[in-house]
Amino acid sequence: MKTEFYSAAEGDGVFDRCGEIIRAGGLVAFPTETVYGLGASALSRGAVPKIFAAKGRPSDNPLIVHVAYPDEAEELAVTSPAYYELAERFMPGPLTVILPKKDAVPYEVTAGLDSVGIRCPSHDAAHRLIIAAGVPIAAPSANVSGAPSPTSAAHVMRDMDGRIDAVIDGGECDIGLESTVIALNGRRAKILRPGAVTREDLLEVLEEVTVDPAVKDPSKAGERPSSPGMKYKHYAPRAEFRLVDAEGDGFASYVNALGGKVGAICLGSEAGKFDCFKKYTLGDEDDVRELCHRLFAIFRQADDDGVEVLAARLPDSTGESLALYNRMIRAAGNRITRPGATEE
Ligand code: TXA
Ligand code: MG
Repeated sequence: MKTEFYSAAEGDGVFDRCGEIIRAGGLVAFPTETVYGLGASALSRGAVPKIFAAKGRPSDNPLIVHVAYPDEAEELAVTSPAYYELAERFMPGPLTVILPKKDAVPYEVTAGLDSVGIRCPSHDAAHRLIIAAGVPIAAPSANVSGAPSPTSAAHVMRDMDGRIDAVIDGGECDIGLESTVIALNGRRAKILRPGAVTREDLLEVLEEVTVDPAVKDPSKAGERPSSPGMKYKHYAPRAEFRLVDAEGDGFASYVNALGGKVGAICLGSEAGKFDCFKKYTLGDEDDVRELCHRLFAIFRQADDDGVEVLAARLPDSTGESLALYNRMIRAAGNRITRPGATEE
């Protein structure tokens, strides 16, 4: 099929057209503040399986449902006072709340689960698309299954050109990592996937917030993980990704000793210390937000550059950095490299 490509800046006509595609059972990729989503009508049994086909997504991995306003969850899920308190504080924004589903949501969306993830994105183009479609939109990240989530329309086209009806270009995604996913139970929540809304943020509203052990250690995602997505290798470049736990100049020394087509993710201020095939430099400070924003684009760039080993410093696993840690540890196949410790 021919994939229609629009800029969100073209205005209302784009959203009318793309809303019509969604209502007719088609697929539209659209920007959100986290990553690009691949959307279909969440109420259509016929449309939703096309998402799985276009991505090559395992059929047991449920989709998130995107709404224009938090109270649209009423039709889709069993809400609670805690849901509305979370909505008040964090929606629209990068938070997905898993709630018991209602009948309006077909099992095609939830991969057979009796729960559904609700998310109200803050990106204007996402908001306008949902309104134009007139239905809630089921959407995973708009990448081919297993590839890093797309943070630009060019990434989406790379993966999806010819496989979907349309793409709306809204520029680079602000955040760059996917939403925080929580399972809500009364006033308690468990973080299934960390994102820009942190545990500390959630504790402003909730009584208790735990982090699923698989977030820090993906090998702990058992046969039936709390979030089916956690058992799949994800987010990874084709290059081998190495997560290096080294202080100070130890990281540069490690990289410089490797040889071959090595790429390093480093700070601008230290770039001079690296002598390797490619450098992916961040700003001058250790800016967690910048790395979140650029990580998936760097993964894709490193592959385009022909990098064979991509190395990065092990990030903190606290606060906003937990999301980075989670994506990176998974991309590294759950291995941390400790130079000086037992040799590989
Ligand atoms: O930021 C985001 O959340 C992006 C944008 C497009 O909204 N979407 C996204 O969707 O990342 P996806 O499908 O790539 O990741 C959704 C994650 C998966 O790990 C899935 O297993 C989990 O959420 N999930 C969805 N529904 C669930 C449910 N009912 N129970 C447990 N986990 C669920
Ligand atoms: Mg995804």
